[in-house]
Parts: sequence; structure tokens; C-alpha cells
Amino acid sequence: MEVVRDRAALAAARPRLPTPVGMLPTMGALHPGHRALLDRARAACASVVVSIFINPTQFGPGEDLARYPRDEAADLATCREAGVDLVFIPPVEEVYPPGASTFVDVGPLSERLEGAARPGHFRGVATVVTVLLSLVRPDVVFFGQKDGQQTIVIRRLVRDLGLGTEVRVVPTVREPDGLAMSSRNRFLSPAERAAAPILSRALQAAADAFHQAGERDAERLRSLMREVLASEPAGRPDYVSVADGDTLQELATVEGPALLSLAVRFPSARLIDCQPIG
Ligand code: PAJ
Repeated sequence: MEVVRDRAALAAARPRLPTPVGMLPTMGALHPGHRALLDRARAACASVVVSIFINPTQFGPGEDLARYPRDEAADLATCREAGVDLVFIPPVEEVYPPGASTFVDVGPLSERLEGAARPGHFRGVATVVTVLLSLVRPDVVFFGQKDGQQTIVIRRLVRDLGLGTEVRVVPTVREPDGLAMSSRNRFLSPAERAAAPILSRALQAAADAFHQAGERDAERLRSLMREVLASEPAGRPDYVSVADGDTLQELATVEGPALLSLAVRFPSARLIDCQPIG
């Protein structure tokens, strides 16, 4: 496994990689959710590239950039174990050269849901993913369903800009009690951790109503999720959403692919989860 830290070393290593090249962009603190993406990439591609970069432009002021977990040695061990070929761990100036002034803005899609709660977040995500895809030029790039809106934003940007990479989305990896694995789960107190599966329970209640009871009224699905969340006072809901799977516009009736999503604020961390339906 080769580890490179600057654009020049990456450009030198890239032509030696057998194709198809699969890529997994990450912010490190790798856990079994990331590992599932790595295994998927390893199985589907002749070589696998991982980027590890805590992207400052996707964190708002007052968010958790400073305390975001960092553990390079453990991340490299995980990559080695998963059979990764090339790891790109750049310092900030290799991603954003001094004076960098170009940003990628995907428009209204990035202003809804997480974008409304975290202004500028998806501009940062879209910009860093565009830079990373331009530097690595993978044939296939892998993202987790866990960050549902992120996958929709990235599909759109790859299509609009003609980046020529195939985007594949991998199902969310969960703890046995349903909590979606996340680098931020480690911030939860024991009581918050015990309460956190409420997110997946709320999603499951709405998904069951959709699949088993044939409920198509989006507001009734939202109410169901709100009711389940209300049973757990430790977490304050930020939003519950039943939105179109491509535009993320809130729906009145679910007629095609849609995304159930929600965000809940606990005192120690804000958690998100989602589930596609339809
Ligand atoms: P990060 O949170 O490190 O996640 C990297 C990838 O792993 C993302 O595609 C994310 O959706 C996926 N992932 C995280 N937890 C998962 C889980 N429990 N199950 C399945 N997949 C999971 O997402 C980012 O980094 C950044 O925004 C990034 C795309 C790297 C841009 O900076």
C-alpha cells in the first residue's frame, strides 16, 4: 500500500494503478461503515484509492471541526487490512492551494434539510469532492447511503460537470440496535447512546407504514416519525422529511422514489439518518 501526501506524488502514482480504479473519499476515523465501502470497492475494482482529509470548508463556525476524531495510524491499518492500494492524506494546502478561490455550488438541492441546518456545508462537500475526483480520476466512486443528501448532491454534480466517474451508493451499516455507525457516535454519553436508536426506529415506523400499510400520504409519514421521536425526550428533532429522491423537495404524496430523513440534536452530538423508499 502506497501513502502519498501531495498532488505531485499522487499524479506519479496514479498511472501505475490497474483499472478500473475505485475511490472512497473519507474524513478518516474509519469504522465498520467505511469498511463496508472499502470491501465493496475492493470487490468491484482492480485498484482502490482512499482519501483521508478532514475538509475544513464543510464545517460551519461553531461546528465540531476542532474535535473531529483523528487517528492516522489506525486508519492506515484499516486500509492495509482491506487491501487498499493507494492512500491520499493531503495537508490542507494540497487540496486548497494558497489563494484557492473556486467553489462548487449545486444550487437548491444543497439548501434543503442538512443544507438548511448547516449553511455552506454542501458547498464545502461539493468543492472538496470535485477537487478529489479531479486529482484521482477514479472510474467508480463509492458513497454511503447513511449521508443520503450527500449522495444526491454528488450524483448531481458528477452529472452536471461531466466528471466521468460512476457513483455507487452502499447501504448504511448499523449497530445491532439499529443506530447508524458514525464517527460522531463516540461523543454520545451512555444515556444518549441508549436513546440514539430512536432515529432508526422512527424511520422504520414510517418505512413499515409505507411498505406494509400502503401509506402514501407524506404528512402522515412525517407525523409518524415525529411521534416516535417525541417518545425520547433526550433528543430534540431538527427536522423530519419525506422528500423526492432526486430533488429533495418535500412531498405531499409519495408516488416514486423518495427519501425519509431526519436529524436529532442530543446535548453531545447531532445525529442524522435516512432511508430510501419507493
Ligand atoms: P465520512 O463521514 O468520513 O464518510 C465517508 C463515507 O463513508 C461517506 O460516503 C459516508 O456516507 C460513508 N459512511 C459513513 N458512515 C457510514 C455507515 N454507517 N454506513 C455506510 N456508509 C457510511 O462523508 C464524508 O466523510 C465527507 O463528507 C466526504 C464525502 C469525505 C467529503 O469531505
